[in-house]
Amino acid sequence: MTENFRFSLLAEDGNARRGSITMPRGEIRTPAFMPVGTGGTVKAMYMDQVRALGADVILGNTYHLMLRPGAERVARLGGLHEFCRWQYPILTDSGGFQVMSLAGLRKITEQGVTFQSHVDGTKHEMSPERSIEIQGLLGSDIQMQLDECVRLPADESAIEKSMEMSLRWAERCKIAFGDQPGKAMFGIVQGGDVVHLRERSATALKEMDLKGYAIGGLAVGEPQEVMLAMLDVTCPMLPQEKPRYLMGVGTPDDILKSVARGIDMFDCVMPTRAGRHGLAYTRRGKINLRNARHAEDTRPLDEQSDCPAARDYSRAYLHHLVRSNEALGGMLLSWNNLVYYQHLMQGIRDAIEAGCYADFMAETQAEWERGDI
Ligand code: GUN
Repeated sequence: MTENFRFSLLAEDGNARRGSITMPRGEIRTPAFMPVGTGGTVKAMYMDQVRALGADVILGNTYHLMLRPGAERVARLGGLHEFCRWQYPILTDSGGFQVMSLAGLRKITEQGVTFQSHVDGTKHEMSPERSIEIQGLLGSDIQMQLDECVRLPADESAIEKSMEMSLRWAERCKIAFGDQPGKAMFGIVQGGDVVHLRERSATALKEMDLKGYAIGGLAVGEPQEVMLAMLDVTCPMLPQEKPRYLMGVGTPDDILKSVARGIDMFDCVMPTRAGRHGLAYTRRGKINLRNARHAEDTRPLDEQSDCPAARDYSRAYLHHLVRSNEALGGMLLSWNNLVYYQHLMQGIRDAIEAGCYADFMAETQAEWERGDI
């Protein structure tokens, strides 16, 4: 196992990239999908299952863990890997985005953010330096800079002001992180839906020579075409030899189209959250198990799947579990969905290696369109 954080490009097909990140806790095969393990748990899943279905890395959240159970407490208990029994790489988000979407009263200044916990209303402060400190206490392998993400639509002047502050916060996070050979701190490109602001953000972050680059501020209410247009301008400005992570994205279709534009890493609550709400992702598109038409359907979700959740249970039973709010319903559908996502990522990686990514994408989309089996 290498001691350093290293990214290698193994194959390219058009703008799509097949790569590998190596670091002390393991390898991340890219393009990668990271299951979201917000508060030290990928909801409704055992970590053994998450590993077995092919995840190389999971995501944890600074915001949630600092509030409950607290970063210092996690550190005293041996760090997040030990605490949640996941010994492979963990990427942590910095907290800024979750403060914006979850916290109560909040105030953002040059110094950092002050906010009220959504758990118990207590007041907290987080500076760029404190975010990096917390991510260090958790034992995160890939840390994110503290940033501010503007919800779209927004004024250009507001987007610019926030993006420039995020750049200054990136500098402060870089200094706070220092030199940690087996770990990485990624910068986050902001700039909303404004092309020249995205270019400014990407250029300035590139000059900071960080170990990887995230693209943030997307999938926040804008149409898919806008998100893809921002990727079209941002990806070419980022260094070829560093990993690129599109934060909080997305649907299987978003992932296919973003990989085609040069994205290497993704995270999204969609497979697990949708699963807990009764939605199954399959190679023939989405199936809403709440629907009455499944009440006496004895077929499994997909008899060709190698996931027991997809293969061994009738749709009628899944429908019953979902309708009765049984915990097992969310467990089985989260499992099915994460298996589907990881299967998609494996298909993507194989297709890039084989030089047939465009065909793979077209065939995958056509199969969704064909509808339920
Ligand atoms: N998750 C989804 N989007 C974002 C973003 O813009 N910033 C951060 N920190 N996390 C995100």
